[in-house]
Amino acid sequence: MSRIGANSGVGFATAKVIACASEVFHVIMASRSLEKAKSAMSEIEAAGTKGLLSTVQLDVTDERSIEQAVALVNQKFGRLDVLVNNAAAGSIDPDVKTRFQLCMDTNVIGPAVVSAAFRPLLLKSQKPYSIYVSSGLGSMAKASDPTSITYRSSTNGEAYRASKAALNMIALQESIGFSSTALKVFVVCPGFVRSNLRGQSEEARSGWGKAGDPQVSGETILSVIQGERDADAGQFVHRDGVYPW
Ligand SMILES: NC(=O)c1ccc[n+]([C@@H]2O[C@H](COP(=O)([O-])OP(=O)(O)OC[C@H]3O[C@@H](n4cnc5c(N)ncnc54)[C@H](OP(=O)(O)O)[C@@H]3O)[C@@H](O)[C@H]2O)c1
Repeated sequence: MSRIGANSGVGFATAKVIACASEVFHVIMASRSLEKAKSAMSEIEAAGTKGLLSTVQLDVTDERSIEQAVALVNQKFGRLDVLVNNAAAGSIDPDVKTRFQLCMDTNVIGPAVVSAAFRPLLLKSQKPYSIYVSSGLGSMAKASDPTSITYRSSTNGEAYRASKAALNMIALQESIGFSSTALKVFVVCPGFVRSNLRGQSEEARSGWGKAGDPQVSGETILSVIQGERDADAGQFVHRDGVYPW
C-alpha cells in the first residue's frame, strides 16, 4: 500500500501501526522529501515491525513525481492494494488567494491527480481500498448545524474547510463511479491529533494541549484496510461511527 505524506503526524503514525500489525503488509511511505521519508522509515523500523517498509518521493503538486512514483510501484509490485491520500496543508494566511491556492492545490487537486494516476494499479488488486484522509471540518452538515462545535471557523479557516469538503466530493464521486468494480472508497476523519498541520511550535503541535495521539488515527485506518469497516464503504467514517456529509 502507499501512504502519501507519511513522514509526520497521522501519516507517520499510520505507517507505523500498519507495519507493526502484520507481516502481510508492505507500506510504501510516500513523501515529497525522500530524506524525511527515509528518516521516518528508520524510526519506525527501530521500533520493530512485522511487515515491510519502503519509500518513494512524491509531491502531490508535481505531476512528474506522481508519474514516477506510479512507475516505481508498477515495476516493483505490479499492483497496489491500498492508496491512502493523507497529505495536506493548512493555511490561515491573511491573503485569501494565498490560503485558497495552497489548500486547493495540496488538498484537492493533488489527491484527485494522485488517485487518477494510481487507479489502474489499484484496480489490479483483488480487494482494493482508496482512502482519503479528510476532516470533520469538511462536513457541510456539521458546518451548517449551529449546535456543532465546528459551526464557526477560526479566522481565515474557511479555505482548509472548503478544501476538505471538496475532497469529500472527489471521494464520493470515485465511490459511485467505480461501484461496479471491487474498489472500496473511504473518507476517514483521523480525529484531532498531534501533528505539524497547525504549525511547528509545541503549542500548535499539541493543539494547545487538546490533541490526541495519532496512533488512534492509524488504528482507524488499519481497521478499514482489514475490512472491519466494509459496511461503511463509500461513507465518511471516524473511529466511532460515520459523519454526515
Ligand atoms: N492532526 C489533526 O488534528 C487532523 C484533524 C483532521 C484531519 N487531519 C488530516 O490528517 C492528514 C494528515 O495531516 P497531519 O495532521 O498529520 O499533518 P502533518 O503532520 O502536517 O502531515 C501532513 C503531511 O502532508 C505532507 N505534505 C504536505 N504537502 C505535501 C505535498 N505537496 N506533497 C506531498 N506531501 C505533502 C507533509 O509533508 P512535509 O513534512 O514535507 O510538509 C506531511 O507529511 C491531513 O489530510 C489532515 O487534513 C488532521
